[in-house]
Amino acid sequence: MNKIMTSALLGATLLASAQSAAASDKIDVGLLLPYGGVYASLGKEIEGGFMQAIEESGMADKFNIIKEDTEVKPPVGLAKARKLVLQDKADVLVGLVSSGVLGAVRDFVDGAKVPLIVANAGNTAATGAKCSPYITRVSFSNAQVNRPMGQWMYDNGIRKVYTLAPDYAAGHQMIEAFTKGFEAAGGKIVGGTYTPFRKTKDFGPYLTTASASDADAVFTFYAGGEAIAFVKQYDAFGLKKDKPLYGSGFLTSPLYVKAQGAAAKGVVTSLHYAPTLDTAENKKFVSVFKDKNGRSPSEFAVQGYDAGRSLVEAVKTGATDREAIAKALPTVSYTGPRGPMKIDPKTNNVIQNIYVYETIEMNGTLTQKVLGTIENVQDGVNGCKM
Ligand code: PHB
Repeated sequence: MNKIMTSALLGATLLASAQSAAASDKIDVGLLLPYGGVYASLGKEIEGGFMQAIEESGMADKFNIIKEDTEVKPPVGLAKARKLVLQDKADVLVGLVSSGVLGAVRDFVDGAKVPLIVANAGNTAATGAKCSPYITRVSFSNAQVNRPMGQWMYDNGIRKVYTLAPDYAAGHQMIEAFTKGFEAAGGKIVGGTYTPFRKTKDFGPYLTTASASDADAVFTFYAGGEAIAFVKQYDAFGLKKDKPLYGSGFLTSPLYVKAQGAAAKGVVTSLHYAPTLDTAENKKFVSVFKDKNGRSPSEFAVQGYDAGRSLVEAVKTGATDREAIAKALPTVSYTGPRGPMKIDPKTNNVIQNIYVYETIEMNGTLTQKVLGTIENVQDGVNGCKM
């Protein structure tokens, strides 16, 4: 009896150690995204794009994916990053949607020397004064998306602008970048407001002030649930005709433009991706995504996809541990759904095209008409020392 017990125990121990060896053979990926709050749909979309890249690589069995919810709250995001790194021993972190959450985890990630692939959060400082060799951003920076729109709007006859954005890091950085570009072109900002982030449901008071200004147009950044509410209320206020609405392209993302409906028609924005881009790489991506999801992919899906693809490419170079993955990530470059992309070795931010697109209706559905392309937009070093 004793003998049987002993050998059973031994068997169990062997099995457990075999399993843990198998688990540690895999690359542990901590997927850190919002699954609740104003950016919940963005988190889900990024995860979908990420999984598409992992599945497409044929290397899914190489990765062990552990998901955590940031709830779009900086202290929660930091606690979850610590858990993924210290408890789950993640080899790499992927995700982050909010610039505020990225700001909160930056020092921890840098100190722990864990590679982080940023799949959304545009916090300009994270690839500027607060850059790190462990942070590689494949999405965009808040400055990169908005800066070119200043010149574009001026060239298209806009002289005076009123700005609106949520009152947190991303809102401030996006408006500051647009302002710089617009003023350098010769335009004037006649006023602006930052609205309470995650709390504003009624934009009425802010729209009243914008309407009373002598601006030719309004420039904004909103995303997720706030973008849906804002675009609908802007239209309901009857402001669109007198003051056309512009912004960064998250405002009318294909992810939620259907919920905005006709209110989104005619809105002109700038972004690093539109599902209507007419390239072989994009058509292929859109078709796989559509087969799976029954709709067009958004910029968030592409960012997730490129985060997954960058990780796969880094691993293909033989990198499996934290240090090697961190070193390999910035060397990855390819032409993907959004066009050519490569990582700037001076900042670890992506260099990519920025597209100006208008939301139009075609055959009864809302779609994106690309009006212009600004090629290979690259941020300045902005105090980054690698
Ligand atoms: C950000 O906080 O950096 C952010 C959030 C949502 C977006 C874009 C940027 O759509």
